[in-house]
Amino acid sequence: MAAPDHTVSNCPVHIAVIMDGNGRWARQRALPRHAGHRAGVKAVRRTIEHAVRRGVPYLTLFAFSSENFRRPPDEVGRLMTLFVEAMQREIDELHQNKVCLRFIGRRDQLADTLVQRIEAAESMTAANEGLRLTVAMAYGGRWDVAEAARKLCERAAVGDLDPADVDESLLGSSLCLAGVPDPDLLVRTGGEQRISNFLLWNLAYSELWFSDVLWPDFAESDLDAAIAYFGRRERRYGHTSEQLEASKC
Ligand code: FPP
Repeated sequence: MAAPDHTVSNCPVHIAVIMDGNGRWARQRALPRHAGHRAGVKAVRRTIEHAVRRGVPYLTLFAFSSENFRRPPDEVGRLMTLFVEAMQREIDELHQNKVCLRFIGRRDQLADTLVQRIEAAESMTAANEGLRLTVAMAYGGRWDVAEAARKLCERAAVGDLDPADVDESLLGSSLCLAGVPDPDLLVRTGGEQRISNFLLWNLAYSELWFSDVLWPDFAESDLDAAIAYFGRRERRYGHTSEQLEASKC
């Protein structure tokens, strides 16, 4: 992996990615869907390397949603094997490049072998101070919010929390991405323009970049195009442009 190149101005601090289009990429080539997922792993590697090169501090990838379990069992099984193999192959290099790897989602729905790899990867890279890479696996945005609410209710039930103290900040800090700044930019490949139950809470103010490129074809130049788009956005958070101009003076 190359050293960070900070030449891009106004680079997003946190980029979240919905990697879509593996199946169509494979179909276009008369290949099985699994071949598309394999090609998708290469695009994941390219994207991580380029995010490091661009000095992006946080990258979050949607690898497998709670709803993806509805796919044919053979496809789900092959995807899980692919995740295990990819982790085994890539973890040392990620570690050498100081990537801190974290996973979010329902581990109780994942196979034991995968959970073991996840836990080993997280503990191996925990102290790394480079790119903070989060992989969402068996993840759903509604589940995340419901879990946070459940944890707060449990604390309230034992008298550890006054319900009157529950606010946006407390709920936000009970979510999977607690401590991680909200994504500045959401990239979705594959031509669809929806959030698909990804980081529902955290994406509240994210800029959205939808691309027709199928995930296995996602190239460095596509990430640069998304970052450049982000650089042209005016983020107002409810303010007016005039207020923002005045605050610059
Ligand atoms: C969406 O394409 C992709 C997935 C459900 C799986 C994503 C997995 C990878 C990119 C592989 C590697 C990931 C990691 C983190 C190692 P699709 O199958 O929904 O495509 P389609 O919409 O064209 O059918």
